[in-house]
Amino acid sequence: MAQRVRGVVAPGKGQPVRIETVVVPDPGPGEAVVRVQACGVCHTDLHYREGGINDEFPFLLGHEAAGTVESVGDGVTEVEPGDFVVLNWRAVCGQCRACLRGRPWYCFNTHNATQKMTLEDGTELSPALGIGAFADKTLVAAGQCTKVDPAAKAEVAGLLGCGVMAGLGAALNTGGVGRGDSVAVIGCGGVGAAAVLGARLAGAATIIAVDLDERKLTTASALGATHVVDAGDRDVVATVRELTGGFGADVVIDAVGRPETYEQAFYARDLAGTVVLVGVPTPEMRLELPLLDVFGRGGSLKSSWYGDCLPSRDFPMLIDLYLQGRLDLDAFVSETIGLDDVEAAFDKMNHGDVLRSVVVL
Ligand SMILES: NC(=O)c1ccc[n+]([C@@H]2O[C@H](COP(=O)([O-])OP(=O)(O)OC[C@H]3O[C@@H](n4cnc5c(N)ncnc54)[C@H](O)[C@@H]3O)[C@@H](O)[C@H]2O)c1
Ligand SMILES: [Zn+2]
Ligand SMILES: [Zn+2]
Repeated sequence: MAQRVRGVVAPGKGQPVRIETVVVPDPGPGEAVVRVQACGVCHTDLHYREGGINDEFPFLLGHEAAGTVESVGDGVTEVEPGDFVVLNWRAVCGQCRACLRGRPWYCFNTHNATQKMTLEDGTELSPALGIGAFADKTLVAAGQCTKVDPAAKAEVAGLLGCGVMAGLGAALNTGGVGRGDSVAVIGCGGVGAAAVLGARLAGAATIIAVDLDERKLTTASALGATHVVDAGDRDVVATVRELTGGFGADVVIDAVGRPETYEQAFYARDLAGTVVLVGVPTPEMRLELPLLDVFGRGGSLKSSWYGDCLPSRDFPMLIDLYLQGRLDLDAFVSETIGLDDVEAAFDKMNHGDVLRSVVVL
């Protein structure tokens, strides 16, 4: 029997979100219904609402979530009712060219639920990132449910489902930060602050946090930045070089994703260093660099999709570190809110007031 629950729907381009009744089908083969306990508000939800991702309105927003598996469909063996899970948008297929080459964190054919959730009149909803978790319950592919220790608070655990994992993974996986490295992170919102935390976990000796907002720099310091740079009144490239013996950092992470921040990252990096782009640019943005500098400065220029994470490997491990007090994920929960506060949370995000607002159900 399909169930009727509340969900936050973006009805059309640029229109405010509203709470609608969402029809959630029973799970079919390979699917699971999850009772959502918490879901963070991510910039990508706002991108969906603004039509910046695609035009498949109406969207069921929300994708940084944790909850309990309520029911599973035929053939599901990886999770069972009652399991505490973090939802992921990388349910790897095991069969695409990336998976077959042993690099499933790039999987090009990730799984989502086959059936559609709908409005009461039958209109099909597009769940954000194949999740749609600003809702009492949601239908996903069973592979999108990653079991973690239920001792973790849902509002914290859910954040690993997107932005915090993207930032941690940009440092730990994509950037390959190692003991003693110098790291600079440009933009210290939820993603960049997590990159600072990841750099610290990896043993970086120098961690330089760069932002335009004083409040973000204060948080970054608390999370382990050894130096902070206000990009509004300092030359970012010159300052990062000064703080690294005149050379530049081994790894520079751009968690903003604009041409000017990418260029800063490119030149704030030591010879043969690594640039990691984790911020998401918009289609009209262009980058111009002397090709000779691309060659002459060497190293690698990488992009990080979802922190190159493998949910089954990374989520349980990071939750364990959190429970041991070795990973301060609590710092990312700026406030907990209700389902009807998502629009207000978008405003706070735009004003830089929060790292994360988290809807608690
Ligand atoms: N690659 C991925 O898989 C992935 C996953 C989730 C989010 N993202 C992207 O990461 C980016 C950051 O997300 P967020 O949630 O942290 O956003 P956010 O809005 O919370 O943070 C952005 C931060 O950048 C700062 N900033 C803006 N312009 C700057 C500049 N010129 N110099 C220095 N700092 C500047 C802002 O003050 C803010 O603190 C977004 O583009 C988001 O879409 C990527
Ligand atoms: Zn695959
Ligand atoms: Zn997200």
